Amino acid sequence: MHFSSRTSWEFRRNTLTQLVAHRRNEGEPLYDWTLANPTLCGFAYDRGRIGPALGAPAAFVYAPEPAGMFSARKAVAGFLVRHGMPVSPERLLLTASSSEAYGYLFRLLCGPGDAILIPKPGYPLFDDLARLHDVEIVPYRSHYAGGWHLDEESVRDAITPATRAIVVVHPNNPTGAFLAPREQDALAAIARERRLALIADEVFLTFPFAGSPHGVSFGGVAAPLVFTLNGLSKAAGLPQMKLGWIAVHGEASPVGEAMQRLEMIADTFLSVNTPVQIALPEILAAGSATGEAIRERVSANYAGLSSVLEGSPVSVLHAEAGWSAILRLPGFMSDEAWAVELLAREGLLVHPGHFFDLPFDAAIVVSLLPEGPVFRAYAEKLIAVVHGVGHRDPQS
Ligand SMILES: Cc1ncc(COP(=O)(O)O)c(C=O)c1O
Repeated sequence: MHFSSRTSWEFRRNTLTQLVAHRRNEGEPLYDWTLANPTLCGFAYDRGRIGPALGAPAAFVYAPEPAGMFSARKAVAGFLVRHGMPVSPERLLLTASSSEAYGYLFRLLCGPGDAILIPKPGYPLFDDLARLHDVEIVPYRSHYAGGWHLDEESVRDAITPATRAIVVVHPNNPTGAFLAPREQDALAAIARERRLALIADEVFLTFPFAGSPHGVSFGGVAAPLVFTLNGLSKAAGLPQMKLGWIAVHGEASPVGEAMQRLEMIADTFLSVNTPVQIALPEILAAGSATGEAIRERVSANYAGLSSVLEGSPVSVLHAEAGWSAILRLPGFMSDEAWAVELLAREGLLVHPGHFFDLPFDAAIVVSLLPEGPVFRAYAEKLIAVVHGVGHRDPQS
């Protein structure tokens, strides 16, 4: 049988995933410090409010609207206004997730072989998405110097005649860095000069840490065409509801044309289910408390890291927002070797930094979502392993 080259993935498991599978099979304890699924992290959801809304009589009638039901888009617009990102419902298009939104935008903007610029370090979602949509991805970089800074030259250098859009993740996952207003302006200037679309992934925008500057949405930057992405997955901690959105901003003519074409793409799939759209006003209203609880937890966990790690050879990188933290470990072992060691010795699962293209030898990425005492216990396990490895006889 012939399969497409875009699906000829390397399915082999790496050492870490093999070790995880082995531990699971053997029933050995596994402490998953990569857990990014809020529904498994002890947050309270207002089931009494969301459940009946999903089962409302209107949820049993099929009346598809390609951009999403207007009542649902109005609810999203209300959410965005409350978070300081005003947009009219007419400029919103609902999707089943932000991943699907990326797919629609790649389809909208790129022919086969056209290119999209993506941030590094960054979440490794784009590689597979781009491949599935026959799009080339070209990285640009940010550098760390006590905080993350956009390498503007690397953006300019990455642009070729095939480039169609620049993706920004604001704040970035996993660095937790917002683009500073002057960096946003620089990207907008490049987008204007080169007539490129900006795709701003803002799924973590509503999760700034206490005391950090709040990032400003890309919805307001002066560029010809800007798409901002978000959804229930992070904003309300409800990835299983499968609802995301694209907000379209910019000059009237490209915005109008983009909306029209996006509606046609969405009409081909009609992938957003009716119950979630009917229930959306209630889900967003109930979800604001969950969103706030998540924000408080990640913020407190991040703040607590410095004191837990004090005096240890592990340091935490500066971050401003999001659901993850980057930890630097002693550089005599690679990030992969540290991850294997943590798993073997304490059953602690972390992401090696190279997974996100982090420019350090021995960095790991951990989730800020676990409940406080669990999070602290994971940090203590980490320190115990780092001390244990440090005192190991090098011959053993
Ligand atoms: C930066 C970023 N964008 C998008 C997504 C995917 O979100 P969704 O569940 O809406 O597809 C993730 C998932 O972790 C993410 O980290």
